[in-house]
Amino acid sequence: MSLLKIVRFPSPVLRQPTQEVKAVDRDIRRLVEDMMETMCDVNGAGLAAIQVGSLHRIFIIEALAAGGEKTDVPLVFINPVLSNLSTETDVRDEGCLSFPGVFISVKRSLKLQLSALDIDGKPFTVDAENFFARAIQHEHDHLVNKLLYDHAGPIKRQMIKRKLDKMTDEEAMDILRTYGD
Ligand code: NI
Repeated sequence: MSLLKIVRFPSPVLRQPTQEVKAVDRDIRRLVEDMMETMCDVNGAGLAAIQVGSLHRIFIIEALAAGGEKTDVPLVFINPVLSNLSTETDVRDEGCLSFPGVFISVKRSLKLQLSALDIDGKPFTVDAENFFARAIQHEHDHLVNKLLYDHAGPIKRQMIKRKLDKMTDEEAMDILRTYGD
C-alpha cells in the first residue's frame, strides 16, 4: 500500500467528470487500499477517488462514521447510486480533505439509501441516517464535482480562496493531521 497525494482546492481535477468502474479488478482494489491508507493517515471521515486524482466513481467512508468501530475497515462504495433522500434535513459544519482547515455549514437530508458495488464487485444497498447519511452525501457530491466551496456564500468563498491559494503542501498536511476531515 502507499500514501497518495490529496488533491486540494482549487485544483481543476476536482471539477473533472467522473467515470463508472467497468470491472472491480486488481487495479481498483489496489486504488481502494491506497485510498484507505491515505484517509487513515489524515484521520479523515471519507475520501472520494477524485480527491487522489482518479476519476473512478468510488468513495470510502470511515467505519466510525458509519456507526462501526474506529478499528473496522472503511466502507467501500463503487458506482454508488443515491435514492430515497428524506425531505427532513439538518444543517451542520462539514470539513473536507481537499479544503484543509475549512468548515462550512451544509444542509443535508437526514436519511437516504445508497446502492453500490463492494470491493468484490457485488451489489449491495445501505440505509443511512444522521452523520453516516451526511458523509455519504458529501462524498457523493465529489463524484458529481460539487464541492464544499459551492455551499459557501460569496464572502466565505473569498476567504477559502485566499486561505488555500497560499497554503503549501506541508501546511496542508499539518492541518489535516491535526484536525482531520
Ligand atoms: Ni470532501
